Amino acid sequence: MAHVTLDKYLARLGYGTRREVTQLVAKRRVTQTDGRTLSTDDRIGPALHDQLRVDDEPLDPPTGSLLILHKPVGVVCSAKDVAPLVYDLLPSRFLRRTPVIAPIGRLDRETSGLLLLTDDGALNHRIASPRTHVSKRYEVWLAEPLRGDERALFASGTLLLAQEATPLRPAELEIVGERHVRLTIHEGRYHQVRRMFAAVGNHVVALHRAAIGALTLGNLPVGAWRVLSAAEREAVA
Ligand code: URA
Repeated sequence: MAHVTLDKYLARLGYGTRREVTQLVAKRRVTQTDGRTLSTDDRIGPALHDQLRVDDEPLDPPTGSLLILHKPVGVVCSAKDVAPLVYDLLPSRFLRRTPVIAPIGRLDRETSGLLLLTDDGALNHRIASPRTHVSKRYEVWLAEPLRGDERALFASGTLLLAQEATPLRPAELEIVGERHVRLTIHEGRYHQVRRMFAAVGNHVVALHRAAIGALTLGNLPVGAWRVLSAAEREAVA
């Protein structure tokens, strides 16, 4: 966010309307770590972000941040659906931010794992775009044992999913067990992993996204989120 007045800065981060934020400032609930008194007309830029506090708490992540969330099974990647939603795992202010923080691509309700979110539209597009071919690695548990030709078929670049005109890009399959595989894909078509296994007569019983590019969940607990560092951002796209 370029330099804007304090009331506008906090309103964009979802701390309330400009009027409500003005009240927070008047009540001295907005403070600066160096003790300097703040006024709503003060112009705030990225450099000051880390020095501001609301009710003695550091501010939410600045605009342009990239978030990683460990999505649990049963949670929906949408702001408008039947709860629970991924937004229920984030501070409620996040839904009032301008621009909004949105998931980068989707995971199905029944899929767990690594979900990225950002309010940076260009970054979202760059990571999600089918043209970028950012890799996504999934752990897949299957209803039936593998039949044997899956690895070669997925790697061939010839697999055509039902109702699609272009074949899938080559994907890498690593066999972990009879009904457990690791699949890396380089695009993100609708329900792609489930449909790939349906195409070979199998059924996915559990699906977990373990990595996007070189980024993994590490030890981020299920349901938790955090802001990615600049180095981690590099690992994604
Ligand atoms: N492929 C799927 O089928 N579902 C997901 O959630 C992600 C990839």
